[in-house]
Amino acid sequence: MLFGGRSSEHAVSCVTAAGVLGAIDRGKYDVVPIGIAKNGQWVLAGDDLSAWSLKNASLPEVVAGDKTVSLTQFGDARQLVVTEAAKVPQVLGSVDVVFPLLHGPWGEDGTVQGLLELSDTRYVGAGVLASALGMDKHFMKVVFEAAGLTVGPYVAVTDREWTVDPAKVRTRVEVLGFPVFVKPARAGSSMGISKVDSLDQLDAAIAEAREHDLKLVIEAGIVGREIECAVLEGRGSDAPRVSQPGEIAMVDGEHHAFYDFEAKYVQGDAVSLSCPADMPEDDIARVREQAALAFDAVGAEGLSRVDFFYTQAGELIINEINTMPGFTPSSMYPQMWAASGLDYPELIDELLQLALNRKVGLR
Ligand SMILES: Nc1ncnc2c1ncn2[C@@H]1O[C@H](COP(=O)(O)OP(=O)(O)O)[C@@H](O)[C@H]1O
Ligand SMILES: [Mg+2]
Repeated sequence: MLFGGRSSEHAVSCVTAAGVLGAIDRGKYDVVPIGIAKNGQWVLAGDDLSAWSLKNASLPEVVAGDKTVSLTQFGDARQLVVTEAAKVPQVLGSVDVVFPLLHGPWGEDGTVQGLLELSDTRYVGAGVLASALGMDKHFMKVVFEAAGLTVGPYVAVTDREWTVDPAKVRTRVEVLGFPVFVKPARAGSSMGISKVDSLDQLDAAIAEAREHDLKLVIEAGIVGREIECAVLEGRGSDAPRVSQPGEIAMVDGEHHAFYDFEAKYVQGDAVSLSCPADMPEDDIARVREQAALAFDAVGAEGLSRVDFFYTQAGELIINEINTMPGFTPSSMYPQMWAASGLDYPELIDELLQLALNRKVGLR
């Protein structure tokens, strides 16, 4: 189990790891929890993470130490090795499958997946390309549009475009009308995202988003309900399985202009999650169909959560796909499966089995 990581979603990933460790069948799986510190170092983590929570005063964090863990290849085996200065390396044993419980860049974006590919190590979830597409809010839209899904109006802004001609960028954004949502192209958990109501707030929002990624996506604000769907790869050559759709509603709209980081993780009562969402049957069927289409469009494997805006007129606008969605026991993805008849321990087992049954190579 890999968790923590270099992204700003480090703490969220730690809480996910605690949830998975508490629910995984220890009789069936021999679990080695490996934390990735914020500097990228891999360390052996304790086996009981149950005290970790986002509601404590200090957020959970993997701290780098004197020992480091690496995954190396000995012949056909993938071995975990612990190294420490001036000590003989200690071989922990071989690895059958890796569960990367990582969110955001250097974890959910294809980089860790690429590392695992290099040693033919099996892992849960999407491969290199699907992970990278799911991370990039610009390229995922390009792929969704090509697959016939509806994406909202947006402009992508590269570092060069903003640096060379900011006035031109402002003009392109004005065409979208206000409000707009300014986002780092590759981040997550609402980090660096702002809702901008007028042109005079735009530059500050851009500066903030650029703290997370120099490439940006700026989107027209969409008025609609936030509807999500959980997708799970089918067994063998079966089609992807799709949960009942869920809805996220801001209860405390006064303090949160949108579904921001605080609302997502810190202030548990700021949002309500309901599943199945209260929608007409036909629209539920459309959401589920489009969620499966989005999963296949990026070539996802294992799991993904697909998020839509559902407008008053009944239109479904796809917002994003998350190839490693929030996965604590109370997160939307496991909750939607629980409401669709698959509980958290079963879901974990299913994901591991899908990964163990996969061929290695060229993902
Ligand atoms: N174009 C938009 N129109 C309206 N609300 C938006 C738009 N884009 C994002 N939001 C709001 O911001 C939240 C976070 O944006 P999202 O793109 O999902 O980022 P993240 O990948 O960090 O979850 C959404 O859940 C929604 O509440
Ligand atoms: Mg989102």
